[in-house]
Amino acid sequence: MASAASVPVGGGVLVDMPGNAQLLVVQPRSGEFRAFNPACPHVGSLVNPPAGGVITCPLHGSVFDVSSGAVRKGPATSGLREVAVARSGEDLVLA
Ligand code: FES
Repeated sequence: MASAASVPVGGGVLVDMPGNAQLLVVQPRSGEFRAFNPACPHVGSLVNPPAGGVITCPLHGSVFDVSSGAVRKGPATSGLREVAVARSGEDLVLA
C-alpha cells in the first residue's frame, strides 16, 4: 500500500488503492500511523493531506483532526472515516 518512510511525521500522503479509491495515510507522531477515507463527509470532496496538525477540505473549508479524523470545524458534521492499517516491516498494509 505505502512504505512507512513515504509518510512524513506530522503529515500524510494520499495513496492510490485498487479500483480508483484513495486513502489518506498520516503519521501524527513518529511511528504512529493512521489512515482515513479522504472523501469529505460533507459532500465528498477530496481532502488535502495534513498541514499544521489538521486536515482541511478545500471545497468548503471543513477542518479535521489529524490524529482522530474528528471534525474540528464544519460545515461537515462528522469526522473522516478511519481505515485500519498496520505496519509490516517497512510497509503499511490494510489491517
Ligand atoms: S465537501 Fe468538504 S467541506 Fe464541503
